[in-house]
Amino acid sequence: MATIVAKGLTKIYDKTIVAVDHVDLEVKEGEIFGFLGPNGAGKTTTIRMLSTLIKPTEGYAYVCNYNVVKEPDEVRRCIGIVFQDPALDDQLTGKENLDFHARIYGLSKNERNKRIEEVLKLVRLEDKADEFVKNYSGGMRRRLEIARGLMHYPKALFLDEPTLGLDVQTRRAIWEYILNLNKSKGITIFLTTHYMEEAEYLSDRIAIIDQGRIIVTDTPAQLRNLVGTDVITVSCNDHQSLKTELEKKDWVDKVLIHNGALEVYVRGGEGKIAALVKIADDVDVNIESINLRRPNLEDVYLHYTGRSIREEGNANGRMKMMARRRMRS
Ligand SMILES: Nc1ncnc2c1ncn2[C@@H]1O[C@H](COP(=O)(O)OP(=O)(O)O)[C@@H](O)[C@H]1O
Ligand SMILES: [Mg+2]
Repeated sequence: MATIVAKGLTKIYDKTIVAVDHVDLEVKEGEIFGFLGPNGAGKTTTIRMLSTLIKPTEGYAYVCNYNVVKEPDEVRRCIGIVFQDPALDDQLTGKENLDFHARIYGLSKNERNKRIEEVLKLVRLEDKADEFVKNYSGGMRRRLEIARGLMHYPKALFLDEPTLGLDVQTRRAIWEYILNLNKSKGITIFLTTHYMEEAEYLSDRIAIIDQGRIIVTDTPAQLRNLVGTDVITVSCNDHQSLKTELEKKDWVDKVLIHNGALEVYVRGGEGKIAALVKIADDVDVNIESINLRRPNLEDVYLHYTGRSIREEGNANGRMKMMARRRMRS
């Protein structure tokens, strides 16, 4: 059986907020599974259910073959969790933080010391073991949290937005630690993120979640193929007129106005630029810039939701969705 299985997993807060809406998941042993979605999509809530911190309203989940509601202690023993919000004690050293955590699992002093040394090595913090955490950088804190999540030899590690708020360089370093854990220790990793590049770089498979629902699950490469088209981005003085003209052409898959530019979805983009420029000319639209790119996960997200993952207002979208649902029932 897969390491993580969820079927119809649902969480409704306060009887009205549908945070997670009938999520089905299967994470195989040894896989890095990326859970990608914007703020408020339901990522943390899903992790909280899978790691037994809150109970599902509906549906069920198994982690390491244990039922998260009926066998929470067994589930907790086989998982490590790194929360979105830091939970370290600033007034303790790195080593003391780990020791405090290890006592909860009832390890002897010898076992604790041995294990602390091991996990600190895994995240390259050996040299900082006796430093107070208040002197750690953001990246070091995150690494210490990952180390803490590994103290009791978990089979599966949950990482909730592991690089949130870190600079690009530190983020990349954390990525390498995560990959290394997965490859060298075979730890199954379930990570949430709203960074496309992160999901794409780390994940064997990605589920895209939006407003509590999984919209698609696949490998990063296959997700890009699903969209399949190139995107020509055009800045001009009249986006609407050009959009209207382009939409009449059968070689144009779709046109969106997005981030103050026109996004034209076509197959074989490089062969279509000349035609596009001519059309603009014919309707007296002045093109300021033109840009061609292969689809990325941002396009995949846009393709399925009609919105950018970076756009604000998802909470708003959720309210509308709930209103629609109420009207239907
Ligand atoms: N304890 C809670 N009580 C009520 N609503 C909540 C609670 N936690 C989260 N929510 C709501 O559930 C939705 C999903 O939140 P969350 O799982 O934190 O999303 P994400 O981690 O993807 O940003 C949001 O609309 C959020 O406001
Ligand atoms: Mg979250």
